[in-house]
Amino acid sequence: MLKAFCHGMLACAGVLGCAGVAAGEVEVLHFWTSGGEAKSVVELKATMAARGHTWKDFIVVGGGGQNAMAVLRQRVLAGNAPAAATIKGPAIQEWAELNVLTNLDAMASFEKWDEVLPKVIADHMKYKGHYVAVPVNVHRVNWLWANTAVLEKAGVSAPPSNLDEFFAAAEKIKAAGYIPLAHGGQPWQDFTLFESLALGVGGADFYKNAFVKLNPSALAGSEMRKSLEIFRRVKAYTDDQSPGRDWNVATDMVIKGKAGFQFMGDWAKGEFLVAGQQPGREFTCSAAPGTANAYSYVLDTFAMFQLKGWEAQKAQGYLAYVLMGQDFQEKFNLRKGSIPARLHTNLDKFDDCAKTSSRDFAATSKTGALLPSVAIDMAVSSAAQAVLRAAVSDFWNHDRVSVHDTLVKLASVAKLR
Ligand code: GAL
Repeated sequence: MLKAFCHGMLACAGVLGCAGVAAGEVEVLHFWTSGGEAKSVVELKATMAARGHTWKDFIVVGGGGQNAMAVLRQRVLAGNAPAAATIKGPAIQEWAELNVLTNLDAMASFEKWDEVLPKVIADHMKYKGHYVAVPVNVHRVNWLWANTAVLEKAGVSAPPSNLDEFFAAAEKIKAAGYIPLAHGGQPWQDFTLFESLALGVGGADFYKNAFVKLNPSALAGSEMRKSLEIFRRVKAYTDDQSPGRDWNVATDMVIKGKAGFQFMGDWAKGEFLVAGQQPGREFTCSAAPGTANAYSYVLDTFAMFQLKGWEAQKAQGYLAYVLMGQDFQEKFNLRKGSIPARLHTNLDKFDDCAKTSSRDFAATSKTGALLPSVAIDMAVSSAAQAVLRAAVSDFWNHDRVSVHDTLVKLASVAKLR
């Protein structure tokens, strides 16, 4: 159905400027409510509105999107799917398997998505070789954010490049009266922190064996053991108010100079920017300690659900078309903290964090150190991820939970491969 529409709409959108296309409504499920996230969504709404389409927010609050996915499941099972939803990683294929997603091949071939997207990204968008989703960006997860003034006052001359330097810096920041590490104690954030630490401890091959291949000897081996020990040591540098804290509240602690560091994906940069801060000035972005040669990525992706009705399908098709547009991807990612998913996008307007991200994405895609983020839903099935996340979070929250027992829980996921 979308196929027929696509031909008409694309000819119109690409060649005639869509003058005659009637408007429709798109209901989009997302969870982008923080300052930087909301500003990015405004771009999207404006682009749709400029063509007369109405954007209907279907917001499910909760950073990381876990709540959103639960609500999405209820809606789709009730036969009332939204036009689009931000879904990522293997969940895209899990949804496609249920035969509820729209086939976007006609648009993809007309707009040459295979040529304008890196293969690693295009592959995530497909189910059995067919496009069912649209990527808007690449977020890097293995970043360490720092408040420049706090570091200076604590006598830390540069962001730490390895874990020893991190602990040394954290000690100095603590001694100077600041919270060394701003952490949001929610399971997905515990896992995000752990992912970056484990990558710093064990490197890309270990990460891949453990968190992509779910190899039991990596899941319960010496590198994982060391990662858990480091994780526990890091906890001593967080404050006692961290349980339950939202990620952007933690970022705000760095922005306001209450804390020195935060480990978080580069959606955090969106918050610094909204606060009027600039990288290299008030804050720094650097690879999480020990991970400069690796890159864990997240692709924010919109999956399109099958809809009834011509108008609704048309608006949905237009959304897919817009999301892949060069202009839109530039504007959106300048606010979101990420880089465009499309190849060959001019990065002149982007800051140094984005330029580093883009360079490292390209470099690591050649060395094998470009890694799907396990914490942010990119690497393994949602079932396997839930078990890993729970084990990591339980270990973080309860000092009585032993390294040994946690290794056993992690390794149990191997059966979900
Ligand atoms: C991630 C998402 C990002 C970011 C973050 C915090 O799952 O990929 O776009 O918004 O959650 O909500």
